[in-house]
Amino acid sequence: MTTAPDTRPAAGDSETAIRTRRSTIRLTAPAPGADELLDLLAAAATAPDHGQLRPWRVIAICGDARARLGEAAAEAAPAAELAERIAAKHLRAPLMLGLVFQPRDHPTIPRWEQLAATSAMATTLLLLLDARGWGGVWFGGPYPDAPQVRKHLGIGDDEQLLGYLYVGTPVPGTPSGSRAAVDVRSKLSWLGDTDR
Ligand SMILES: Cc1cc2nc3c(=O)[nH]c(=O)nc-3n(C[C@H](O)[C@H](O)[C@H](O)COP(=O)(O)O)c2cc1C
Repeated sequence: MTTAPDTRPAAGDSETAIRTRRSTIRLTAPAPGADELLDLLAAAATAPDHGQLRPWRVIAICGDARARLGEAAAEAAPAAELAERIAAKHLRAPLMLGLVFQPRDHPTIPRWEQLAATSAMATTLLLLLDARGWGGVWFGGPYPDAPQVRKHLGIGDDEQLLGYLYVGTPVPGTPSGSRAAVDVRSKLSWLGDTDR
């Protein structure tokens, strides 16, 4: 198992992990290896999931496969001058995890709940990566719905690519983007009497 650089507070405090996680945009090698990725996915798969449908799968893309995917995505670029930039985006991390949503017809579990479960898994995976010192960021693309990308990755007609988790080792000294504090009082309402 490759060991992530220890750039984070000691593991074990989940609240600290949640409060301090940041997306990492500048990423370099190494990235988690195959065994560690399986271990992380097993943990992420514990995220809330109605009916335990696990309506997702993950495609790990590394090495030259990133460039080949980049070429497929570049074909989808609406203007030729964009193609090079689109292709390069696939090389910004040593590991890309394609998140594939696999909704299924279910008598009581609607599609939106399955999408929420998939998102919960992905968020949990980002938290786990961060807590172990790996860097990660969820980007919706490039071009997750483009036929070229779908074909290249083997996305089925009943599946949807929800973008990628870009994963690797954080480049030291890279500042995180600003994150505005949310006034959560405006996000919370109460019904009923409570001592508050
Ligand atoms: C489904 C999803 C797709 C996203 N796609 C993009 C994207 O394409 N480009 C981007 O700049 N940020 C995207 N983000 C936001 C980043 O992943 C990240 O959350 C944001 O940069 C804030 O950083 P933080 O997580 O450290 O607060 C996406 C987030 C989610 C949940």
